[in-house]
Amino acid sequence: MSIIVTVCIFGLYVFLSSTQTEIVPHIKGHLCPDWTGRLGNLMFQYASLFGIAKRNDMVLTIHEDDEITSVFDNLFALKLNNNSVCEHAQTWGEMEPCLYDILAATIPSNRNVKQMSLLQSWKYFNHVEQAIKEQFRFNQKIESKCQKMLNDAIIAFTSIHTKIPVEKLQVVGIHIRRGDYLDKDKIAHGYQTADEEHIKKSINYFRSKFNYVLFLAYTSYYWKDLLWREKHLVGSDVVRMRVNSPEVDICVLSKCNHSIITVRSFGWWAACFANGTTIYYKNVAKLTVSIEMILAKT
Ligand SMILES: *[C@@H]1O[C@H](CO)[C@@H](O)[C@H](O)[C@H]1NC(C)=O
Ligand SMILES: *[C@@H]1O[C@H](CO)[C@@H](O)[C@H](O)[C@H]1NC(C)=O
Ligand SMILES: *[C@@H]1O[C@H](CO)[C@@H](O)[C@H](O)[C@H]1NC(C)=O
Repeated sequence: MSIIVTVCIFGLYVFLSSTQTEIVPHIKGHLCPDWTGRLGNLMFQYASLFGIAKRNDMVLTIHEDDEITSVFDNLFALKLNNNSVCEHAQTWGEMEPCLYDILAATIPSNRNVKQMSLLQSWKYFNHVEQAIKEQFRFNQKIESKCQKMLNDAIIAFTSIHTKIPVEKLQVVGIHIRRGDYLDKDKIAHGYQTADEEHIKKSINYFRSKFNYVLFLAYTSYYWKDLLWREKHLVGSDVVRMRVNSPEVDICVLSKCNHSIITVRSFGWWAACFANGTTIYYKNVAKLTVSIEMILAKT
């Protein structure tokens, strides 16, 4: 641990002292993404880059056709219609994925830099949380589809259970991703997956906590998860939601009052927006490399 701390403080010291002594006018560098993965991953990359750009006084720069711009219509990033800035940018990256890496967040800010990492830690954007929530506003088309799905589910439920007062109903969004993490190579890699028992306990927690509760159950789009849902997410208070598109589905989950997630990036964002009580699966990763091995690489 002490090695990491020394490296970080040393890096920071060099960075600070050089910015203090040079009297070069500060030209803001552009910070560019290297989009990797699907919606949940893209959101982490955007949010983290926004946080890193703020911290280093850089201009977050994306392309106007990037997938994320078709989902959210309030992004503050500079949107260009060409790649002239980003294609020549110097590349930069994290040492290890899914850790907060202060060196990845500390960038030579007068150059154009392309961040090549997943940046999957909330610590990269903790200081700009409100700005992130403002920017991740679903566009009108997604928003209206999503509201309709949510309202239809609630109306269908309360028209059967007529004694339930709608205003007291607590809606709990469930997002399960298991199937692809049960592959042999993923298990060998140290991934662990929530089982039926864990999910059942989580559901029962909300059943005992609230008088009126409705569960909206989503899974990943993998057929094994959809089948698993038919078998394990059942009950008169559970609605297995029709699969729409990832952006509509995450929007519905984000409007629920509480969340049950198996902790992958999609569920993480859904629960973050819902901002209620979240039950998540804690043991998603087994430590297969020791801290010493990580340090040896630095
Ligand atoms: C790229 O877009 C920017 C802003 O839209 C523009 O100023 C610049 O001239 C463009 N570059 C090329 C090579 O087209
Ligand atoms: C659940 O959330 C909705 C908004 O998404 C809100 O209108 C409703 O009052 C909440 N329900 C409860 C019981 O807090
Ligand atoms: C989330 O909920 C907490 C209270 O539980 C509240 O203090 C906070 O402002 C909420 N955050 C957002 C972004 O809505």
